[in-house]
Amino acid sequence: MKRILVFCFSLFTFTILAFPVSQKVTKIAEKSLQFSAQQYSLMAEVMKDKPNLLPRTIDDSGKLITSKANWWTSGFFPGTLWYLAEYTKNEKIRTDAELMSQRVANQQYVTNNHDVGFMIYCSYGNGYRLYPTDEYKNIIINTARSLSTRFNPKVGLIRSWDHGKWQYPVIIDNMMNLELLFNATKFSGDSSFYNIAVAHANKTMINHFRSDASSYHLVSYNPMTGIPELKGTVQGYSDSSSWARGQAWALYGYTMCYRETNDIIFLKHALRIADFLLSNPRMPNDLIPYWDFDAPNIPNALRDASAGAIMCSAFIELSGYVKGKESKRFLKAAEKQILTLSSPQYQAKLGENGNFILKHSVGSFPHNAEMDVPLTYADYYYVEALMRYIHLNEKVKK
Ligand code: GLY
Repeated sequence: MKRILVFCFSLFTFTILAFPVSQKVTKIAEKSLQFSAQQYSLMAEVMKDKPNLLPRTIDDSGKLITSKANWWTSGFFPGTLWYLAEYTKNEKIRTDAELMSQRVANQQYVTNNHDVGFMIYCSYGNGYRLYPTDEYKNIIINTARSLSTRFNPKVGLIRSWDHGKWQYPVIIDNMMNLELLFNATKFSGDSSFYNIAVAHANKTMINHFRSDASSYHLVSYNPMTGIPELKGTVQGYSDSSSWARGQAWALYGYTMCYRETNDIIFLKHALRIADFLLSNPRMPNDLIPYWDFDAPNIPNALRDASAGAIMCSAFIELSGYVKGKESKRFLKAAEKQILTLSSPQYQAKLGENGNFILKHSVGSFPHNAEMDVPLTYADYYYVEALMRYIHLNEKVKK
């Protein structure tokens, strides 16, 4: 039986057409959230003695690697703590979430990279959703102002990086920073943030995607004309390959753009990306992708749990925007991903894996960096997906 439901969770509110959710998956999601809260409480204890640092990954010997606030992943640990505080209603985890968010607050004024959206919206966006204070709201609005300085109207896109050989590089990951802009318009009434986000999403849709709906990692533009002059990759296998996390950012990004704008063009695009992923012969049966869909040594290539977790969270949301078989297809895919990521193959044991939640992600294969390791963003989107799933279930039961 299908029912129309309206509910609020994670960073947004949306209407969802839900199928009866699986009790088996729900139980596993609940258990995994309880485990994640315990595991990240251990991590928070370790981090208390490391002022101004955030967890990043582990090295070959299992030793914790941290980063400063200016590394692009800094907001994920505080963001995950906010989700876990929400789930457990545990005041100590809430205090940890506040403390770790404070460590990234200085990024609100940074204008030299696009990642401030990830850093501030995963941390303070969740903080504000749960505890809407003026302080948190202003941090988000300040960040939107900083990010907007990177938008060149001649190009019609936010510039991703200032480093490298490119004139005006834009990477597909940048779609994820738009969520902060959409919400900064809601919080401030300044429509310029919304307009920048829509312009960026539209032009990315035109130039980043191939005819099969797969995405290039990077497109560089001529800053005077706004015409693309190079399409390629930095973190994928080759310029023409489909880097798995890039495809995940694209799926999540356009699903979120549809939520924020109600523009059907973004939904249609997200659906094409979803079909590319789910009908791809190089997608494993357990739906945790290899690090690149075109990695030459498939089926022996490394998997990327982070890409699987991002897709999983996006599929749950996308299932709410379509009906019938299509909706079921996305929810079933997400359920399979939850089951795989929650199995001992991917989920760590308490106190192991450097106190990260998931194993087996890939940071940047071509740079031989963060190969087959835990990563905070895999944990963040996994926990977000679990929260989205159990909220789906709670509402169906009512
Ligand atoms: N945003 C950088 C990455 O996905 O590795």
